[in-house]
Amino acid sequence: MQSKTLVESSTMTSLAKPQVPGQVKHYLQFSDLNRQEYDYLLKRTAWLKAQFKSYETWHPLHDRTLAMIFEKHSTRTRLSFEAGIHQLGGQAVYLNTRDTQLGRGEPVEDAAQVISRMTDIIMIRTFGQDIIDRFAANSRVPVINGLTNEFHPCQVLADIFTYVEARGPIQGKTVAWVGDANNMAYTWIQAAECLDFQFHFSAPEGYQLDTSRLTAKSAQHLTVYADPRGACKGADLVSTDVWTSMGYEAENTSRMSAFKDWMVDEELMALAKPDALFMHCLPAHRGEEVSAGVIDGPQSIVWEEAENRLHVQKALMEYLLCGRLE
Ligand code: CP
Ligand code: NVA
Repeated sequence: MQSKTLVESSTMTSLAKPQVPGQVKHYLQFSDLNRQEYDYLLKRTAWLKAQFKSYETWHPLHDRTLAMIFEKHSTRTRLSFEAGIHQLGGQAVYLNTRDTQLGRGEPVEDAAQVISRMTDIIMIRTFGQDIIDRFAANSRVPVINGLTNEFHPCQVLADIFTYVEARGPIQGKTVAWVGDANNMAYTWIQAAECLDFQFHFSAPEGYQLDTSRLTAKSAQHLTVYADPRGACKGADLVSTDVWTSMGYEAENTSRMSAFKDWMVDEELMALAKPDALFMHCLPAHRGEEVSAGVIDGPQSIVWEEAENRLHVQKALMEYLLCGRLE
């Protein structure tokens, strides 16, 4: 618990530390932080959430500015980052490709130089991971991945916090993934390696994981199942996502038929542990990747999961700018 003096003074002065060039901490993929850092972030998230729920003011990022750059659509990510920085005492600036010079071919490296001289922290939602990597390499302030084609680390961080909040430690547990080998699936694999749990993956033929993206460590935490029933058997958490991610719309028709037997329905959930939870990063398509009975049913925790984006990202922004505060 923070002392009252710190709480009071933080409403006037930012607790952010000056960023040292070359030592700026970014969050571009889940593996950018280690287990000790996640232990801290999960605890810190619980504290920040409790402060928020009891209407306590906590402004460690007083006067700090978050730039949010969106090259793809968003509801949750935009809202949770914008509300989050505001609740921490700062403000957000929303930028998108359509209205900025980014959409007219300004090099990512140049944009990073400029945006990072005017703001204190940057969140980007874009296409290839290479774009965010190049941006971060030229940024003087922390850069956070708000979703790329390859990863969605803030979402999996929220999912893990949600699991821990509801059921306790995730270490040693089994997460079943029924669906596409997309940004969420690859982030879950990194999380399983880092936090020591098992990840069961099942997707139709032609939509399998790219083995060149897996490491020797992945093998200790990942099991691939041809049949989604095998993946769900005995799982502590079942999760899925859209069959067609943003940027892959041209493949929609073929994906609809390829994935039709990979819907998480009541029959699949019944194979998981009796107290298993269901998660979906949202937006969801009832009747495609998940049945209405499951997503709107008693094992679903999707609304808590969505809310927790706010709380984990506040902990993340605070950590990247202020370091550990307890
Ligand atoms: N889950 C998620 O990232 O949602 P948005 O696309 O609405 O931001
Ligand atoms: N895999 C999805 C996640 C959306 C939040 C996509 O990239 O579109």
